[in-house]
Amino acid sequence: MRYLTGEELRKTLGWWLILSIFAAGVGVTYMRTLDSSPFGYVTTKTNATYDYVIVGGGASGCVLASRLSEDPRLSILLLEAGGEETDNMWNHVPLWNPTEHGSNVDWGYYTRPQKYACKSFKNRKCQFAQAKILGGSSLTNNMIYSRGSKHDFINWPRDKMNTWSWENVLPYFLKSEDMLEEEMKFSDYHSVNGRLPVSGPASEVTKLHDMFLASARELKYKPIDCNGKESVGICRLYSTVKDGERFSSSKDFLRLAMSRPNLHVSTHSIVIKVLITRGKAVGVEYVRNGQKRTVGANKEVILSAGSIGTPQLLLLSGVGPKQQLEQLKIPVINDLPVGYNLQEQVTYSMNIQTNTSIGVDREQAFNTVSYLQYLAFGRGWLAASAGIFGNAQLKMDAGSKVNTPDLQLTFSSISTDLSAKIEDQTKTKVTQTALRSNVSSHINGFTIHIDLLHPVSRGTLSLESNNPFMSPTIDPNYLSNNKDVQIMIKGMKMATSFLSTEPFRAIKARAHDRPYSPCIQHKIKSDAYTECVLRHQAVGNGRVTSSCSMGTENDNRAVVDTFLRVRNISSLRIVDASVIPHSVSGELLPTKIMIAEKASDMIRGYESVRLFRKQAERILKRG
Ligand SMILES: Cc1cc2nc3c(=O)[nH]c(=O)nc-3n(C[C@H](O)[C@H](O)[C@H](O)COP(=O)(O)OP(=O)(O)OC[C@H]3O[C@@H](n4cnc5c(N)ncnc54)[C@H](O)[C@@H]3O)c2cc1C
Ligand SMILES: *[C@@H]1O[C@H](CO)[C@@H](O)[C@H](O)[C@H]1NC(C)=O
Ligand SMILES: *[C@@H]1O[C@H](CO)[C@@H](O)[C@H](O)[C@H]1NC(C)=O
Ligand SMILES: *[C@@H]1O[C@H](CO)[C@@H](O)[C@H](O)[C@H]1NC(C)=O
Ligand SMILES: *[C@@H]1O[C@H](CO)[C@@H](O)[C@H](O)[C@H]1NC(C)=O
Repeated sequence: MRYLTGEELRKTLGWWLILSIFAAGVGVTYMRTLDSSPFGYVTTKTNATYDYVIVGGGASGCVLASRLSEDPRLSILLLEAGGEETDNMWNHVPLWNPTEHGSNVDWGYYTRPQKYACKSFKNRKCQFAQAKILGGSSLTNNMIYSRGSKHDFINWPRDKMNTWSWENVLPYFLKSEDMLEEEMKFSDYHSVNGRLPVSGPASEVTKLHDMFLASARELKYKPIDCNGKESVGICRLYSTVKDGERFSSSKDFLRLAMSRPNLHVSTHSIVIKVLITRGKAVGVEYVRNGQKRTVGANKEVILSAGSIGTPQLLLLSGVGPKQQLEQLKIPVINDLPVGYNLQEQVTYSMNIQTNTSIGVDREQAFNTVSYLQYLAFGRGWLAASAGIFGNAQLKMDAGSKVNTPDLQLTFSSISTDLSAKIEDQTKTKVTQTALRSNVSSHINGFTIHIDLLHPVSRGTLSLESNNPFMSPTIDPNYLSNNKDVQIMIKGMKMATSFLSTEPFRAIKARAHDRPYSPCIQHKIKSDAYTECVLRHQAVGNGRVTSSCSMGTENDNRAVVDTFLRVRNISSLRIVDASVIPHSVSGELLPTKIMIAEKASDMIRGYESVRLFRKQAERILKRG
């Protein structure tokens, strides 16, 4: 028998260490799956009727299904076109964005050829991301937690009960929140123990976040809680991530309810028509496994198919602009402005180069150590939400009186050699989704996303055919209003000003200055040049709203009333981003969840937020 040499021992021990970490990782992962596992399963046999049939298991639909099923007397069916989010374990990894345009979790839409934008893309069509999976876009978003501004709600329709005033929506924002940052837990603007986790920057990006804050201070901005009293400023960064897993409405709402006997969930079920008889929605027609089926709704059909799916379905069912429906030979049930007023925020991604690597590196993020660290502790690069390290909500339009942001800057340590790729795109096929977030190696730098929060440009959604399996015609009409262009130009300058601050100078940060060939007829860096670049390269950012806006009784642009009921049709409601009348100043997800929470109280005739109302009153009293 011989003794192991030191080196051999280290080697052996090393292996044991790795193996035990791995075993621990597998154990923890297993326990996590148990924790969030379906104690119930998706349904293969559905009943003939339910009280409520919810169409679309996205960000809102899952919340609604989970809340309505709390009442055991109600029976609920949730129909989702996509598959289960549990099919791919990477879906909840925060660094990962599972959307690949046209993949099995995306509808693969393109916009109509754009007159004023998307010039560098084939046929002037921009890709248009729309999630198709249980959990919807809550699984494909950037995880920034930002509710928007209290002033946003001034523009929402006002009914007698002030249903959508700030004081009446704030309690619902509070209801869903689970603030995980110690120092913010006791702020009146936040709450704990809700289903939507809100955490600070992942450990991997804290240094970058500090650098961003230092830079902001040099520009005379002081960091604020953008979900607090004010919403204009440099924001403390909050993400909807907990223990290294991204929030999704499927995991954090629906799965917790799926064992209830009064809830059925059916995936791969594409709804093609709402059945309406004598002005009342009585059920839906859907296709599953190539078979057409119908299901009845005793109480209501609720559409939560998102800003594209919902108006498409209404049009297919005979609810929409009369002229369009007649042309398509769809019998007109109700003449409503469905699909008008479509709004989408516009974004430009500025590629910044640095003299040293500051961001995510493919090798770093996806190596074994990083992977084990993630499995065992839920930490490391894989836990950093989309690599984001800075967020600012700014006001560029000095003319507007209310102090509400109109521009958002998001700093992401994921760098993309964007301009080079976009130049290529007219020739080769580079996907825009990948451009948005490709974890690339060997590029030193980061990306600043510049988002126009309140586009003045208005678009439309319409049908070209009565075939439910054909893509609807999506025309966001990006940058058709010059005001949008002006704010974006200011935003580009704002983003650049960060680069001249000390922390960024220290890493030689500079915007890509390779002249963009389609725009070289303009003086480089002039407003005309920047406008040209924007019209070529700016794209939609996926925050799509307002295609079935809510309004008061005499508002002829409204599709639903303030109780989200489709006008002149009984038993048909819409609960998703399409009812938002004007896009909000921040991100969409918190607002979507607020709407779903509030809608489920409306539907159940129940008030679930009494305590949060008290908290909201305290804030409002202070002014
Ligand atoms: C790239 C990107 C980044 C984003 N980043 C952020 C962020 O950082 N923070 C944030 O808060 N928000 C962000 N958002 C926005 C936000 O996630 C979404 O706007 C919001 O989740 C939309 O919710 P929804 O319920 O309206 O629609 P969805 O979540 O899209 O749900 C609609 C669901 O209905 C299903 N469906 C559609 N038609 C049918 C049909 N006919 N039959 C059956 N099912 C159907 C779809 O498959 C889908 O699952 C981002 C969005 C994108 C695209
Ligand atoms: C489906 O029907 C069965 C038999 O009538 C009933 O027991 C069950 O509760 C129904 N389930 C739902 C979710 O409505
Ligand atoms: C994303 O980055 C990887 C690694 O740099 C590269 O191989 C791949 O082609 C990129 N994808 C796209 C679509 O640009
Ligand atoms: C980057 O540039 C700064 C400022 O000129 C310099 O101090 C630093 O050493 C450079 N870093 C690298 C890795 O080259
Ligand atoms: C709703 O129905 C009433 C009565 O049938 C009708 O007068 C009104 O024009 C309808 N409104 C809409 C928006 O279709």
